[in-house]
Amino acid sequence: MTETIAVVPGDGIGPDVTAAAVAVLESLGVGCTFEEYPAGDRVRADRGTALPAETEAAVTSADATLFGAVGETAADVILPLRRAIDAFVNVRPARTYPGVDALRPETDVVFLRENTEGVYAGHESRLTDDVATLTRVSTRPAARRLAEYACEHVDDANAEGITVVHKANVMSETDGLFRDTVCAVAERADVATEEVLLDAFATRICLDPAQFDVVVCPNLAGDVLSDLAAGLVGGLGLLPSANVGPERALFEPVHGTAPDIAERGVANPTAAILSGAMVLEYLGSDEEANAVRRAVESVLESGPRTPDLGGTATTDDVTEAVIERVRPGR
Ligand code: NAI
Ligand code: MG
Repeated sequence: MTETIAVVPGDGIGPDVTAAAVAVLESLGVGCTFEEYPAGDRVRADRGTALPAETEAAVTSADATLFGAVGETAADVILPLRRAIDAFVNVRPARTYPGVDALRPETDVVFLRENTEGVYAGHESRLTDDVATLTRVSTRPAARRLAEYACEHVDDANAEGITVVHKANVMSETDGLFRDTVCAVAERADVATEEVLLDAFATRICLDPAQFDVVVCPNLAGDVLSDLAAGLVGGLGLLPSANVGPERALFEPVHGTAPDIAERGVANPTAAILSGAMVLEYLGSDEEANAVRRAVESVLESGPRTPDLGGTATTDDVTEAVIERVRPGR
């Protein structure tokens, strides 16, 4: 591989977990180049901007980006970066692993979250001291390409169809347009759809997650539901994600900077390492991606484990164990 991967470690546990992912990818010897770029709270404190132009330029020109997490400046960093590469879908798989204590071990679901608009479109106003408003944006093109992506990938998830989550009974224009567009695309592609109202979905996935495979949802709903699913499978340290655009993609753990455990060296690197596996898959190295996933599964099953999973291991212990299993006999 000759690809260049931009690495944006960010704040808090971001640098620890991205270093872990890079170490695992480097251990494969696939030959891609990693280039590190600054962003986040510390960068804003030092340089007055949370997202330097060089970082945005690198993300838009690299073959892929591995992102850690940024703190209070998340809206000033990750949202513009997703926009810069026109990342119209946020792919968030949530599954359980042998050896990991999960509330719902039967969970195996992929959220396909609309990633460009909804209530995250940035149209907020403070009208008076006591009144603030937010304009929600829902467009047919955004829902259409999300749905097209979902229909193209429904087979990858061994799914029979897609679940469309919305709240069109209340937000009849915005979510009505979203629902109608997604369902129309699915019908044309001959993909079965089930519609579930957002609030009811929250209960149903807790009670019986096995009924869901591919869940297509608006932006905020996907953000919240994927964290909910993290709770079902054993925690935020396990969930990777991909922000996919037409020509570029940015990969990041679903979690944030975890200030409560930052600088202690005990963050679970699994989500970031699995995001690295998604990078490899995106760049066409399926075999290496699967090797990383198998190594992660093996370590989750036998340990070492970080404290969030009930263990006492450090980030480095887990990373080393994954590297040993990716390349047996090293
Ligand atoms: P968080 O995801 O950082 O942490 C929530 C809980 O999960 C904490 O108890 C944390 O210790 C635990 N956790 C998260 N990742 C973990 C890991 N890898 N290993 C072990 N435990 C882990 O969410 P929180 O606390 O709401 O947000 C903290 C900061 O992160 C905020 O400033 C927020 O803006 C930012 N954030 C940034 C995101 C991004 O850069 N894409 C995404 C989400 C939050
Ligand atoms: Mg989130």
